[in-house]
Amino acid sequence: MSPKPIKPITPIRLMLLALLLAACDREDDCFTAADFETHEGYALSAGTSTVFINSSFAYDTEADWVENIKANSRRFINGDGLYDDALTQAGGLGPVYAGYSCGSCHRNAGRTKPALWTQTGSDADGTPVYGSGSYGFSAMLVYVTRKNGAFFQNYGRVLHDQSIYGVTAEGKLECRWHEEQFTFPDGETYSLAYPQYTITDWYKGYGDTGEPIDPTELFCTVRIPLRHVGMGQMMALDRNEIEQLAAKSNYPEYGISGRCNYITERGIRQLGLSGNKAQHADLTVELGFSSDMGATNSRYPEEICEGQSQMLEGSMMGLLYDRLEVSTEDMEDVDFYLHGLGVPARRLGSTKQPAAYKGRTINERELIAIGEQKFYEAKCHLCHVTTLHTRPRGATLLNGTELPWLGGQTIHPYSDYLLHDMGSELMGVGLNDNYVSGLARGNEWRTTPLWGIGLQEKVNAHTYFLHDGRARNLTEAIMWHGGEGEASKNLFAKMEKDDRSALIKFLESL
Ligand code: HEC
Ligand code: HEC
Repeated sequence: MSPKPIKPITPIRLMLLALLLAACDREDDCFTAADFETHEGYALSAGTSTVFINSSFAYDTEADWVENIKANSRRFINGDGLYDDALTQAGGLGPVYAGYSCGSCHRNAGRTKPALWTQTGSDADGTPVYGSGSYGFSAMLVYVTRKNGAFFQNYGRVLHDQSIYGVTAEGKLECRWHEEQFTFPDGETYSLAYPQYTITDWYKGYGDTGEPIDPTELFCTVRIPLRHVGMGQMMALDRNEIEQLAAKSNYPEYGISGRCNYITERGIRQLGLSGNKAQHADLTVELGFSSDMGATNSRYPEEICEGQSQMLEGSMMGLLYDRLEVSTEDMEDVDFYLHGLGVPARRLGSTKQPAAYKGRTINERELIAIGEQKFYEAKCHLCHVTTLHTRPRGATLLNGTELPWLGGQTIHPYSDYLLHDMGSELMGVGLNDNYVSGLARGNEWRTTPLWGIGLQEKVNAHTYFLHDGRARNLTEAIMWHGGEGEASKNLFAKMEKDDRSALIKFLESL
């Protein structure tokens, strides 16, 4: 595949209807298609689902096809409400849970800042300790197993560090950061850090005897939430195109070869697309309600703490566990909401804003265009694939509702949705979490789609990246790439400083 040449910057006034954007809170946060000058087609990250909004609502705004049809709009609003409203105990929350609503972890349809990373104390040697403390809410998912992959009896897959009144959370998290300094070939320094977790305050030991869990037996891996940019497009992807991409994804000169994850759910073998290891075939609405919030539903009718002694305590508190807590219709509306979210348009920068580049003064738009060229030169696009297509019939929701509006679109997600080995060497761990999900091994991760990434700071007020949020900015995220990403990372590292900055500026325009 040859890099996409940068076209001369011909300003094209997109002949779209100017959109009046209700969700804009400040005037300079809004722009319309008519204001948007770009390389042909590239402003439209997701075809007709592109939204021209630049505020903290950039991920959480409905696409036109939702807004323009009354029935769609009604379902979106209901789904949005169910997604954001804090579940109450009466509404099915808990008894133990990890988040109190989808939006508690995916604030503004993004990545809630992990509250866990607030310092709570220090070790005897002065090492700062961060943690969820007695009440703190982590906004993360923590998967706990035995070293051999088996679940601990009485716990299950996810550690629930929150609980309703009268019930004890399963455990609390504590973390310590390991940090090291590194130097780019040109002498500029940077540092990388990764968090190492311990679990404290187990509600109960392992097994019937209540023996404390042996820490040497414990394996845990932590994930920060993913942005909800382009969920509908991901579900509408042409699966053949992804499978062909996997067959084609073989660049021995750069050590890159992506592969598909497949999962069998309810007897059907499907291509995995969602989640950090492409370990799910759908948007995990039922799983989210059940596993993350403790709300039972038709697909997961059992309480997640089934078998815990707490179940009994809960029943004694008069809670009802024999009815489903979220209806199948409501769950489909949440699924609809996720599918109906628009994808923010690319912001190509102003021609009037001066920018410095290698001793010259150019403008912001030119700098971003240089950064885009550097993205191809560093071979980022071999995994962060720029252009894909959705299948003609679009996507289908949980209960079988068809969404034809998502069909037949050319999209720019900056991902191949494939698994890549991201290495285990850097700082002795790399990105390997030793956790197997479907066909994905510990060192394998789905290429994170980069569309909308430049707005994360505006939407969620932080710049933590990668599956566990260890990267504190975009440069660190790149410098953690190893394994199949090693050659690409080195191409980035060897660039002149101004070219690295231009590449980052380009990422910020996505
Ligand atoms: C406790 C925090 C938490 C809660 C609550 C939560 N999520 Fe998530 N969500 C996550 C994390 C962490 C991931 C990444 C998981 C992984 O890859 O292992 C994720 C991933 C996802 C993804 C995949 C996105 C992608 O790019 O592939 C979807 C879709 C999703 N969540 C939807 C939901 C819905 C719907 C709800 C409510 C029913 C919900 N989540 C509740 C933390 C949460
Ligand atoms: C071999 C495939 C591959 C190549 C090449 C690659 N990436 Fe990635 N990238 C990934 C994968 C896989 C992840 C997810 C890793 C994780 O979360 O642990 C990722 C994550 C990222 C993230 C963090 C996204 C987020 O929201 O957390 C950024 C930023 C990024 N890549 C930028 C780049 C840039 C810039 C380049 C080129 C210098 C590049 N990548 C090259 C596969 C690749």
